[in-house]
Amino acid sequence: MKDVYILAIESSCDETSVSIVKNGCEDIATATNTQIDVHTIYGGVVPEVASRLHLENITLVIEECLKKANMTVDEVDAIAVTYSPGLLGSLLVGVEAAKALALCYNKPLIKVNHMMGHICGNNIGQTLEYPLLSLVISGGHTDLIYMKEEGSFEYLGSTLDDAIGECFDKIARILGMPYPGGPSIEKAAREGKDAYTMPKLLDDETYNFSFSGIKSHVNNMVHNAHQRGEEINKNDMAHSFQNCVTDALLSKCEKAVINLGVKNFAVAGGVAANKFIRGALNDMCERHDVKMFVPEFRYCTDNATMIGAAAYILYRANKFSDFSINASSHEELDVTDFSKN
Ligand code: KG4
Ligand code: ZN
Repeated sequence: MKDVYILAIESSCDETSVSIVKNGCEDIATATNTQIDVHTIYGGVVPEVASRLHLENITLVIEECLKKANMTVDEVDAIAVTYSPGLLGSLLVGVEAAKALALCYNKPLIKVNHMMGHICGNNIGQTLEYPLLSLVISGGHTDLIYMKEEGSFEYLGSTLDDAIGECFDKIARILGMPYPGGPSIEKAAREGKDAYTMPKLLDDETYNFSFSGIKSHVNNMVHNAHQRGEEINKNDMAHSFQNCVTDALLSKCEKAVINLGVKNFAVAGGVAANKFIRGALNDMCERHDVKMFVPEFRYCTDNATMIGAAAYILYRANKFSDFSINASSHEELDVTDFSKN
């Protein structure tokens, strides 16, 4: 089969990212404009500001990526774009840019679910093996998904309230640490010890998660200490918090590994950049003789390369989209999006 080059666009949250991906596994060139500095001022992503910045930057980022790749749009085989889930205004900028490119250059258009993108980020530089248990941990999701084969999905469980990344961000904010909270907490936790008691997180027979309890718990501890004029040791608090949420992930993943008897396990999403969590999951996999897949750090947080990797699977399955596609803030990963014809 001839080589397939896909130009992919990702703009679901606060990164405007464009990538050219070869055969779903090789990052030819990626350009990303991150808005983190702007959102840090507000302590989190401001949707209206995010879409405005995407709009200002999308054309520049597309041009930068093509320049880096030394390619023209004429030379790519398809245009791919994240259409859901994410911030509606932000997604729309990417979707409209992709449609314009596809229309002007007469290229097929491929819509990609962002969560599928995160999982497929694991195909860059390595190849996922099936049956596969997949843990997607990001700012918007905490999902355990069983994939019998490429293109089949079974949701085993999800968070019942906050996503784990959202929880990292909120705890960081409570502790006065900068956005995004995940890297701030991880750094602080390295300097701390397990000194604070944390609640036992959802420990039932399901594969679901719950993180709202720990968020309230930390919030109450910090406020009570503040009212009593006591100091909170932020590093210790970050350490105890990170240990607690890692235990919650571990126990549900280990249960799924045992019950399903899977031998492949993939972690994906921004929180997968956390070395402590990666390490704990890796130890669990080693104990059960399971092969663990985790993306390179730069493919954990939002990026267009993972969207190009996912789009390649759809390209091979002839799953092209027409110009009626729209952005959607909350669409679940749908088997029909992904499965072969
Ligand atoms: O996948 P992602 O870039 O965007 C979404 O799709 O949500 O994930 C962003 C989330 C944020 O909540 C951020 O705090 C978290 O990933 N994150 C981390 C780390 N790096 C990013 N969480 C924990 N430890 C990290 N090192
Ligand atoms: Zn994401």
